[in-house]
Amino acid sequence: MRTQVGIVGAGPAGLILSHLLWQQGIDSIIIEKYSRQHVQERVRAGVLEQGTVEMLAGLGLADRLLREGLVHCGIEMSFLGRRHRIDFKELTGRGITVYGQNEVVKDLTNARLARGGEIVFEAEEVSVADLDSRTPRINYRKAGEHAELICDFIAGCDGFHGICRPSIPAGVLNFYEREYPFGWLGILAEAPPSSHELIYSNHERGFALLSMRSPKISRLYLQCEPEEDLEQWPDERIWEELDTRLSVEGWKLTRGAVLQKGVTGMRSFVVEPMQFGRLFLAGDAAHIVPPTGAKGLNLAAADVRVLAHALTEHYESDSMSLLDRYSQIALRRVWKAQRFSWWMTSMLHRFHGENSFDHRRQLAELDYVTSSRAAAQSLAENYVGLPFDPY
Ligand code: FAD
Ligand code: PHB
Repeated sequence: MRTQVGIVGAGPAGLILSHLLWQQGIDSIIIEKYSRQHVQERVRAGVLEQGTVEMLAGLGLADRLLREGLVHCGIEMSFLGRRHRIDFKELTGRGITVYGQNEVVKDLTNARLARGGEIVFEAEEVSVADLDSRTPRINYRKAGEHAELICDFIAGCDGFHGICRPSIPAGVLNFYEREYPFGWLGILAEAPPSSHELIYSNHERGFALLSMRSPKISRLYLQCEPEEDLEQWPDERIWEELDTRLSVEGWKLTRGAVLQKGVTGMRSFVVEPMQFGRLFLAGDAAHIVPPTGAKGLNLAAADVRVLAHALTEHYESDSMSLLDRYSQIALRRVWKAQRFSWWMTSMLHRFHGENSFDHRRQLAELDYVTSSRAAAQSLAENYVGLPFDPY
């Protein structure tokens, strides 16, 4: 088989890229390791920046998102038993949309296939080769048969545990990493959200977050140990802990059946450069942010926006100039999102070994961010999404 751009991974990065390329008349084929059902049912991120929504709308992919997504104009920060609202609309003129990543993936997959695109699901033993030649290849097995996809370029959109990044020869990449000594225990619950907007809570027992997926479904998180044993967390204990960490006077958390439970580790990670030869990494394959800033999915969308422009320039004028600068352009936004995600994480979580000075400083930071217009505006402009860098 032959295509112009071979894409490894049918997550948000791979799917958005294939649509952006389709819009420019550039062929692509997506090779995905898991089944369509598995990919569409993974519960992950939930917050879309306005720029991400506008990008999807520009591709004609936002009908259901605009109908069913929950538009929020701010968030609540909770500490010392009180809530403080950050009004995004007033501070930036922009907002966010709460819509599950799995719904985005569902919409993009359906549209890609309806537009005649090809996605190979359940591809086994996926590998990439000849990355620094003019015809890089993706090899895999499908239903026991070996297959080879010959490409002009390969987009490594296969997430943090994918095969593209490790296929780059040793010595090419620089790694920047920080692991956090905690994780998030997340639940999806059949309960109407107890707040109209997200609540980020700094509590002496640890961080908690109230989010949602629809008017009937809540998404809630608790700071926990990185390897927390879910057996130790029956539903009743989770609700009690959420109650404790989120409660303020006169407010009650609505409970309901727990539909899904999981623990996510927390890490900040970047590779530089995000490219080698004709392989370009995008999304989680190149970087991970802790979820506190709600940036992971949005950053994946921003990467492929740059990559699609660069590939379009190449096919229009035979120039490699934008492709050569892909990493440099994408990394400016990546590092700003890393900074913001690290800052939100540091401000809101309890750290082992922190002393009373650290804790008082953290509370002062929260006080500052909720009482100074300049500080609140800085949080708001990062949360709703920084403008795209010119290039
Ligand atoms: P992915 O969504 O990981 O997609 C990669 C795709 O590649 C997958 O479909 C995968 O199956 C496929 N793949 C992997 N290996 C191969 C292979 N060898 N061959 C072919 N295909 C392969 N972000 C937030 O903002 N908030 C959150 O609450 C949040 N929760 C998260 C929870 C979890 C468990 C995880 C893993 C991530 C979470 N994130 C969250 C981050 C966010 O979901 C990611 O940033 C986003 O999914 C990035 O999209 P992506 O397309 O780059 O990668
Ligand atoms: C979510 O709804 O899953 C969510 C929202 C905000 C975050 C992280 C996760 O910061």
